[in-house]
Amino acid sequence: MTMVMMTVNGNAVNANVDARTLLADFLRQELQFTGTHLGCEQGVCGACTVVVDGKVQRSCITFVADCEGAQVTTIEGFDDDPTMSELREAFSECHALQCGFCTPGMLTTARDIVLRLGDIPEPQIREELSGNLCRCTGYVGIVAAVRKVAAGKSPVAVNRPATISAQPFDGPRPAPASTQATSQAIPRALPTAASTGGGTSIDEQVKVAASPEQIWAVLSDLRRVVPCVPGAEITTLAGDDLTGKIRIALGPIKVAFSGQAKVGMDADNREGWMSGRGRDAGQGSSAEGTARWKVLADGANASVIAVTLSWKLGGPLAQFNRSGLVQDIVRRLAATFAANLEAAISGVPQPAQAGAALGGLRLIWSIVKARLMSWR
Ligand code: FES
Ligand code: FES
Repeated sequence: MTMVMMTVNGNAVNANVDARTLLADFLRQELQFTGTHLGCEQGVCGACTVVVDGKVQRSCITFVADCEGAQVTTIEGFDDDPTMSELREAFSECHALQCGFCTPGMLTTARDIVLRLGDIPEPQIREELSGNLCRCTGYVGIVAAVRKVAAGKSPVAVNRPATISAQPFDGPRPAPASTQATSQAIPRALPTAASTGGGTSIDEQVKVAASPEQIWAVLSDLRRVVPCVPGAEITTLAGDDLTGKIRIALGPIKVAFSGQAKVGMDADNREGWMSGRGRDAGQGSSAEGTARWKVLADGANASVIAVTLSWKLGGPLAQFNRSGLVQDIVRRLAATFAANLEAAISGVPQPAQAGAALGGLRLIWSIVKARLMSWR
């Protein structure tokens, strides 16, 4: 647990939180600022946008532990903010909302646009709003509302706390002065995945139609098993030291990690481990983690590979530390890996995914989109 002191909507908050506690969960569940909405929970939709130290930020991918000393403003904190008042009125006049789910994030981003950029043309407003998704209204009314408020305004310095209301407009109120809040680990829908110390670990079982001996013959040979992992390739292998690459294409995010790993094998127990770290030179994402695996018999001529993955992502990919999406991704990868492994065991040529532009992980974008579609 970590003690964090910050200001939320003008109130001092002392929070004793788990290292993995996310700001959006904390605001909603501990402080009852439920105007901070959660849509994708992956940093994509913008519904959870709040202001942290004068800048808009996605609270679903912000750790409370990183907010020490920060001034946080949620939609409830903008009651007396003059720009927000204008925007609320314009949204109403321009029919810029229907269900209102995206509206707190839209308004918070719109306020930032108006203050930071002033009177800008419509294409630029659209670009600035492109990180906020609306599933029902469409963007014509929203853009018109922002345009209306921005018209004639000059940019002003926005790297300062928002005008604060000490009285949030909705839901139970936090204590007005100093609030003691304790956030326990928040149960997730998928119990086999857990975040630890800002990272994530996950257990997965891969069924393969081959005997443990056949599987171990491949798993114990890294030059045979790495090509079974979508997007992965070995650069050098010397003893238990490995260098390699893995390429990931996740919607607009494309990274190519290069890194080093140590590998260990226990042939008697048919288990192994790999621990390493890598970095993407282009986008600046980083990853470190450990994989452990063990081959178990599963009836006649079939096996289960029990895998435990632990990792921590930084940079643009950090949003995928969230366990729900990761569970989906790992399941898809595990299925692809199992199919490739069976192909390797049977001698069938494997798909040329290792050197290609990460065909396997392109599937992941469909998972993200499916999650977005499930809002309604
Ligand atoms: S809920 Fe945070 S960006 Fe979608
Ligand atoms: S008004 Fe935007 S999601 Fe409904």
